[in-house]
Amino acid sequence: MATVLNELESQLTHLRQEAQDAIANTTTLEQLEQLRIKYLGKKGSLSQVLGGMGKLDASDRPRIGALANEVKEVLQTALDQKRETLQAAQIEAQLAAEKIDVTMPGVYIPQGHTHPLTSTIERVLDIFVGLGYTVAEGPEMETDYYNFEALNFLEDHPARDMQDTLYLPDGNLLRTHTSSVQIRYMENNDPPIRVAIPGRCYRRDTVDATHSAVFHQVEILAVDEGLTFTDLRGTLKVFLEEIFGDIQIRLRPSFFPFTEPSAEVDVMWRGRWLEVMGCGMVDPNVLKAVGYDPEIYTGFAAGFGVERFAMVLHQMDDIRRLYNSDLRFLRQF
Ligand code: DAH
Repeated sequence: MATVLNELESQLTHLRQEAQDAIANTTTLEQLEQLRIKYLGKKGSLSQVLGGMGKLDASDRPRIGALANEVKEVLQTALDQKRETLQAAQIEAQLAAEKIDVTMPGVYIPQGHTHPLTSTIERVLDIFVGLGYTVAEGPEMETDYYNFEALNFLEDHPARDMQDTLYLPDGNLLRTHTSSVQIRYMENNDPPIRVAIPGRCYRRDTVDATHSAVFHQVEILAVDEGLTFTDLRGTLKVFLEEIFGDIQIRLRPSFFPFTEPSAEVDVMWRGRWLEVMGCGMVDPNVLKAVGYDPEIYTGFAAGFGVERFAMVLHQMDDIRRLYNSDLRFLRQF
């Protein structure tokens, strides 16, 4: 029996040495946990050695039991100490990694700003909101009815031509002006009406320095009892002075299917008359189209291109600059 005793003793001693070396060489908490399982776990090396105790003489058992306990304690202590060391190192590393050097120069975050077209639209709308107007929008894809028919365009009006208007394969079209939203707005609201309508418009124009196939308009519409041409002129004067400063304006007779009478508005700008918008009294046919009684209500309307305004205000020579996204140009604003 002495052989079994010696055998177990040497196994335990060997196990202790091997485990102590392994623990000492561990560098991570995960590895350490693996070692704990390997040596002290339920199916670990120590349990396996002790499984051989059955073959021992009863008198030898206390001796091996005591040795096994000692090995277990020694290893447990080694594990605990190593765990503390590794945890401390981990915290140390984390603190070092997360340290913020407040004296380092900051990261430059470039700040954008509003596009000149957007800021022009916002400025225009602000003025009309100040005059009591509501802001409304409508769809860019339209039917012939809203873009033309309800606005009193005759069947053979040239604007309806394929040459001017972008038609879609399904028979709809891309609105050529924001006047279409006049109809949509009146259909859904009762007078009195004061509304400003910004939006994108489309035309089959050849693109050059002053024309773009996509452009922006703002439409103005007021409908009420007793509105006159004088109200229209007064409103536009207030608006244009707000935009261009203390300027002269003049109205020239013109024609639009949806207004009667109609006028073109010019402002005196740097010594020249400059055409800036169309306007007029809402044609009774348009009021009838939305079910308003033209005997009770009158209205005025106006519409203008935002690009034109922006170009005049910022002295731009080419409309395409507004769409090219050239930062050297945009940074000026
Ligand atoms: N819709 C016209 C255009 O695109 C602009 C316009 C003229 C709008 C007169 C109006 C208006 O509301 O009364 O050229």
